[in-house]
Amino acid sequence: MSENLFVVDHPLISHKLGIMRDKETSTRSFRQLLREISMLMAYEVTRDLPVVQQTVETPLQQTQVPRLEGKKLVFVSILRAGTGMLDGMLEIVPSARVGHIGLYRDPKTLEPVEYYFKVPPEMGDREVVAVDPMLATGGSAVAAVERLKKLRPRKIKFMCLLACPEGIKTFHEAHPDVAIYTPAVDDCLNDKGYILPGLGDAGDRMYGTR
Ligand code: PRP
Ligand code: URA
Repeated sequence: MSENLFVVDHPLISHKLGIMRDKETSTRSFRQLLREISMLMAYEVTRDLPVVQQTVETPLQQTQVPRLEGKKLVFVSILRAGTGMLDGMLEIVPSARVGHIGLYRDPKTLEPVEYYFKVPPEMGDREVVAVDPMLATGGSAVAAVERLKKLRPRKIKFMCLLACPEGIKTFHEAHPDVAIYTPAVDDCLNDKGYILPGLGDAGDRMYGTR
């Protein structure tokens, strides 16, 4: 497995993800759990953000304190399901900027089709975390990162809820320089491109559309 893969192994996250997998879990709980896991994941994905020292006056004396360096971080949601992860991440980094990339998987070819793209200005000075719950064939994530790379951000990371070996391989063949953060790597894909054991269609489960 790739060196640029971070499997965030934490009992709280595994517990919540286990509930999300259960087909009896309600739409409401699914959304809430995704939000909670995203908060916990945001903590890990931001662990290596660069800081600079600044001087502040405490009520007692002057001291040096670390502050996040550079322009605001950008979270990019790969629509639709990425939006379910965004809220939790913004709880942890409320000042982050937000971009959206609209992609859907053509159900026949499984190829990603882009329908929307909007990101903040000055992307060349920013770090980006692209988020999408599912890394299945990898087609959507590869296309999203390709699009983002054209704007030459300082760094790109990809964060998901579930990955599988096929998606990780495809993603890292295309983007070996982009780290993947995931709480779990499942077994494989089925013949329709769904992750097994997985949790089904993340967008549908999140929004109750099926
Ligand atoms: C899902 C998921 C990913 C994509 C992953 O989205 O949210 O974007 O599939 O599959 P891939 O790795 O094989 O590309 P979907 O296309 O179902 O669109 P939706 O978010 O609008 O439901
Ligand atoms: N998209 C999903 O929502 N779920 C999968 O298992 C694969 C792609």
